[in-house]
Amino acid sequence: MSEPEVPNLDAPRHVAIIMDGNGRWAAARGLPRAEGHRRGVEALRRTVRAAGELGVRYLTIFSFSAENWSRPAAEISELMGLLRRFIRHDLAELHGNNVRVRVIGERESLDPEIRKLITEAEELTKANNGLTLVIAFNYGSRQEIARAAQRMAAEAVAGRLQASDVSAEKLASFLDAPDVPDPDLIIRTSGEQRLSNFLLWQAAYSELVFLPIYWPEFDRAALENAILEFHRRERRFGGLVARTGS
Ligand code: FPP
Repeated sequence: MSEPEVPNLDAPRHVAIIMDGNGRWAAARGLPRAEGHRRGVEALRRTVRAAGELGVRYLTIFSFSAENWSRPAAEISELMGLLRRFIRHDLAELHGNNVRVRVIGERESLDPEIRKLITEAEELTKANNGLTLVIAFNYGSRQEIARAAQRMAAEAVAGRLQASDVSAEKLASFLDAPDVPDPDLIIRTSGEQRLSNFLLWQAAYSELVFLPIYWPEFDRAALENAILEFHRRERRFGGLVARTGS
């Protein structure tokens, strides 16, 4: 008789999540979409806690995409309000739990008050060395790559960079959070199976796990299941030798 499989919950270093399905969760219950987003924030709190407990080092969450501006004004303002409240209400606790907060995405066009909150959160928590929570806000991956190209072009114009210096590594060093390692595992809830302009560059070798639950239902057990699935995959990074999991 073969040995029963021992569940491997060793945490991947970097987990990224597309938190999808708030609206459908609400619609299925006859509730307003805004209620789905509020419950989505509760799921986010559970997830940050669980990720920290499981030993994940970096957790990136897709909280507002560059494409979300096409939603009705009321919903945009609800999502902006959620970020504001999340930072105002949860920052002290995140800081107390040694969480470092980072934000990626385009900032210039955001409301100045939100920009200020983002800067405060990053400043307050910058010396923390527990979980790093990377909030992708007003984020689109193609836009991030274009920003990196712009920054490189500015360096070239200033005479500090030659065309021959440009490499994949060099470009990566101009992305929004160049010191954050690429995600090992990307999870998307709601059953949709695509990346929707999320971390396209960084996802080159990520394992993708798509879960058939809506984001407000996500919890520690769902995260553990995704990690178990991650360890079932063989990661070869283009070579021949399989490396299991992280
Ligand atoms: C996708 O659901 C979710 C979003 C567009 C936003 C996710 C935001 C949160 C979980 C809360 C915000 C948290 C912070 C920190 C700002 P959807 O609306 O696309 O759902 P649907 O596809 O079912 O309509």
